[in-house]
Amino acid sequence: MTIHHGQQQWDARNYDRSMSFVSGFGQEAVQWLNPQAGERIIDWGCGTGDLSAKIAESGAKIHGIDFSQEMIQEAMTKYPHLSFEQADGQHWSTIEPADAIFSNAALHWMKDAPSTARAMANALRPDGRLVAEFGGKGNVASISTALKDVMTAHGWYEESMNPWYFPSIGEYASLIEQVGFRVMQAIHFDRPTILQDGEQGMENWLDTFAGSYLNHLTKEQRTIVVQEVIEQTRPQCMEDGQWVVDYCRIRIYAVRNG
Ligand code: BEZ
Repeated sequence: MTIHHGQQQWDARNYDRSMSFVSGFGQEAVQWLNPQAGERIIDWGCGTGDLSAKIAESGAKIHGIDFSQEMIQEAMTKYPHLSFEQADGQHWSTIEPADAIFSNAALHWMKDAPSTARAMANALRPDGRLVAEFGGKGNVASISTALKDVMTAHGWYEESMNPWYFPSIGEYASLIEQVGFRVMQAIHFDRPTILQDGEQGMENWLDTFAGSYLNHLTKEQRTIVVQEVIEQTRPQCMEDGQWVVDYCRIRIYAVRNG
């Protein structure tokens, strides 16, 4: 997970506690990656490193990068035997091209998608593979629509507050083909996601992920927006006392042309 908007900040411990589903859901992408002993693999937007550690169990040499210093610090504390670096995935480069790039729940935070795609292609050896899962078109539309509606109604919304890039398969495949990838597999699927902490779940989600909208507001304005977003999303997202959010994923397997 990576942040590329000035207003988004991360509390890494809280993220691990309340949003553990993020790495939990990444396990299938790790299966697509099928890491092999000795391979050099970059975890592009590694967050607090849980999937880096999972990949390292194969004997692969993992290097995790993330824009958030807090996330990298937590990853280093949890997995001191692994290699991590604070870096911007939109522009990262290496002199030692990797065998594979893995990315879970991170690419949608990198709004300069062409630059990110170029950086990934340049960081891979010819025939190296990219396995990525991230938010696709329609992802968390209930929440982003409510944030936009509520903040627009109060006159507090600006388009630049939206920190996310949620493409369709068509858009994303054509983007990475242009920088030298061949797309071998791609799926776009709904993954309704139950939030932890019952009634409190939506507010926790907004506190964790919606900083680029909410951090522009005064404390009082923020309370109003959070309450109104909760009420707007409730009919669609509250089921039997649990918040169920309309996550949609793209999972993609692509190979860098030789
Ligand atoms: C996601 O993983 O799809 C996501 C998480 C937080 C905000 C937006 C999207």
